[in-house]
Amino acid sequence: MQPKKILTIVGARPQFIKATVVSSQFSRSSQFEEIMVHTGQHYDANMSDVFFEELGIPQPKHHLGIGSGGHGMQTGRMLEALEGVMLAEQPDWVLVYGDTNSTLAGALAAVKLHIPVAHVEAGLRSFNRQMPEEINRVLTDHASSLLFAPTQTALEQLKKEGIPDARVLWTGDVMYDAALHFGKNPTGILQTLQLEPKSYVLATIHRAENTDNLERLRTIFAAFAELAQSHPILLPLHPRTRHTLEREGIVPLGVHSGIHLLAPVGYLDMVTLTKGAALVATDSGGLQKEAFFHRVPCVTLRDETEWVELLELGWNRLAPPHSVGGLTRAFELVLGSHGSHGLEGNPYGAGDAAQRILNALDTEINEQETRA
Ligand code: UD1
Ligand code: UDP
Repeated sequence: MQPKKILTIVGARPQFIKATVVSSQFSRSSQFEEIMVHTGQHYDANMSDVFFEELGIPQPKHHLGIGSGGHGMQTGRMLEALEGVMLAEQPDWVLVYGDTNSTLAGALAAVKLHIPVAHVEAGLRSFNRQMPEEINRVLTDHASSLLFAPTQTALEQLKKEGIPDARVLWTGDVMYDAALHFGKNPTGILQTLQLEPKSYVLATIHRAENTDNLERLRTIFAAFAELAQSHPILLPLHPRTRHTLEREGIVPLGVHSGIHLLAPVGYLDMVTLTKGAALVATDSGGLQKEAFFHRVPCVTLRDETEWVELLELGWNRLAPPHSVGGLTRAFELVLGSHGSHGLEGNPYGAGDAAQRILNALDTEINEQETRA
């Protein structure tokens, strides 16, 4: 039998990390042929190439080179280019990850051509429609034929939205698969940066709601400056945040102030930095969970989170960046704390999400053929 052609669409940093574990399953299976498409949403070497090089992700057969731009322009240009690729490749399925503009463009281009879409990380909701990610998630879920929910909460949400049970499957979280797989061998970054384990705070900030709102951004950096008096802060800076900080002159902060600004690091260094941190402070979706996977307490600098299990388990605390005092109190409360332990407390599965996704695709394709 001919292998089934899967067209995988990636474009942004977290998607490279999510795709790596699923792609490695595809490469071991004779049932599937995976074609990788990179939209070019992220393009700096340390936002893109580094992940392909160190994680063994197949090189994209199609690189669309779309780059940055407003939401409409970026998504629209992707849509047009992806349609061309899909017409040329004629895939059996299109696979999309997460909630970025690349995700939505991939899903929309496919359904318009009547190609079924499978969505990894379906059913996540912040219930905040101001977030570009929330719109992307809702639209992608409702355009998809197979929805892979990473948590029970996500599964229930899709049911509430009326998506038929047959299209939805709990798989666990592919990011947990990646954390288990790549978390085994630490890199030498702690030695390079001369950091003792558990002596520092690891921080990342990039969300539009924080970087486009200067009051929130200033509040976050003022609170970091206070925290840095007791704990050095390591901050690999997303280019979006770097641009705003530089443009607005918000960060006159060098090594002397205890805030160490780094260029974005590769995933293997990031895993090592996360495991070694005393605290994670972030607005990242992925990093919140990775803190939990490696049992590091986390403060999330947002008003809400899609990953509510982390709050329930006590490994994460929400700290909306409304006041410096509020953030400083949250850091004090969370430093040195821990949530509940034990594997039964892991709502993100057992590290076999990628395998479950492949099995589900296989079953669905066989059933489709029986029906035809
Ligand atoms: C995107 C996703 C967000 C995800 C994040 C992961 C959307 C709407 N948002 O946000 O959900 O959490 O990726 O990191 O899809 N830039 C560079 N070099 C790059 C990439 C970006 O300089 O390689 C700068 C550009 O100035 C660009 C800005 O960062 O305008 C924002 O990039 P963009 O991809 O539009 O959104 P992210 O903030 O990265
Ligand atoms: N990450 C990385 N290097 C960095 C910052 C983050 O490899 O300098 C990883 C992080 O460990 C996680 C993923 O990127 O696996 C999260 O991506 P990001 O925070 O950009 O997006 P989000 O998850 O919020 O969509």
